[in-house]
Amino acid sequence: MKTVEIYIAVRASEGRPRPVAPGGAPGVARFVCKTNPSEPSTMASVRLSSAQPAGTQSLAIAFSDGSEAVYSLMWLLDSCPEGFHPQTGERAFDLLSVPDALLLRCADILSDGRLELQWEHEGPASHFSADWLAAHRPGTPRADAAIVTHRYWRAADLPDGAPRHDARAILNDDAALMAWLVDTKKHGLTIVHDIEGKGEASMAIARRIGFLRETNFGQTFEVINKADPNNLAYTSLALALHTDLTNQETPPGYQFLHCITNDAEGGGSVFADGFAMAQVLRDSDPQAFETLARTRIPCRFFDRECDIRTHQPVITLDATGAIQEIRFNAHLVDIIDLPIASVDAWYRAYRAFMRLTRDPAFRLSFRMAAGEMTAFDNRRILHGREAFNPATGNRHLHGCYVDRVEYDSRMRMLDRT
Ligand SMILES: [Fe+2]
Repeated sequence: MKTVEIYIAVRASEGRPRPVAPGGAPGVARFVCKTNPSEPSTMASVRLSSAQPAGTQSLAIAFSDGSEAVYSLMWLLDSCPEGFHPQTGERAFDLLSVPDALLLRCADILSDGRLELQWEHEGPASHFSADWLAAHRPGTPRADAAIVTHRYWRAADLPDGAPRHDARAILNDDAALMAWLVDTKKHGLTIVHDIEGKGEASMAIARRIGFLRETNFGQTFEVINKADPNNLAYTSLALALHTDLTNQETPPGYQFLHCITNDAEGGGSVFADGFAMAQVLRDSDPQAFETLARTRIPCRFFDRECDIRTHQPVITLDATGAIQEIRFNAHLVDIIDLPIASVDAWYRAYRAFMRLTRDPAFRLSFRMAAGEMTAFDNRRILHGREAFNPATGNRHLHGCYVDRVEYDSRMRMLDRT
């Protein structure tokens, strides 16, 4: 049996945990644990840290590959796999069942290579495999098959148009479905071709991903010229580049527009990458970018049935500062209610971004044909259309949405198989 020593280290009052050399030091407790060298383990030794005063204890773990990581004792208790329900996988551990100041009675490496922690407070011991600890080093995000690097684009970057995917393959082949999902997330926009049938056919494709997002326009919607429209989309007018439903607390994620008929004069489709335009603004006019990212503005949709409002910024950033969402729909911006001290700065920034949406370099224009469906991230890609002449024919798109969370869930489930 190989002997592995576990040491308690005292956190230096001015900073990081201070490992204690073998042999210990005055006031430093010392455990000696045993491991079975025949058991595969990445763990070579474990050092235990405590904090002064109570409540800031941590455990330093060294792995056999030479790496080390420091774990919070409270985090270890809260994350211990034994604290999760064996069937549902949900956390069953009650965080307030343990004291604020944790006291570790013993740390031990078992013969099977697992780390065992026994506590002074009443409750079971905690067990962790070396692999689990290595995979969950502090600050390490969980592996995620839904993460796809965005490829920002201008029109010139897509000389053959948006990437195209075959409807039958998506419907019948999980690998083709995954390839489509990855491509649509990467570029924010793809075209599905050879859809057989009318509205339900494209909805079946969207349902391959997940639940449809229902809104005040219904679970699906018909983009046609209506006699009594409650939305500019339901006219024959041109639509400037926009994202849908910016008045919603969370605008719909992915949008699917299936072309049923498009034989009227005009009616061409236009798309642009909102992330690419926002990045250009960030590089060329950082003050305008910051203003759009920090200033919440009112958006509103109302008709005879509803009055839906929210205050949100045009550009939303994630925790790392990366561009996460664009909300841009001039038709739905309510009366701006900013104080006089900031209103002109906001208009300057908003107009700078709006000018980018009019720049042909960003605008990908094409004409949708019957049997084709555009699929795009409504919180990234701006879409619009040219006016059409309803006296010369029909233009009919059948639409629906699937939220980002459903989309990402499908990618993870496909990755499991
Ligand atoms: Fe729209």
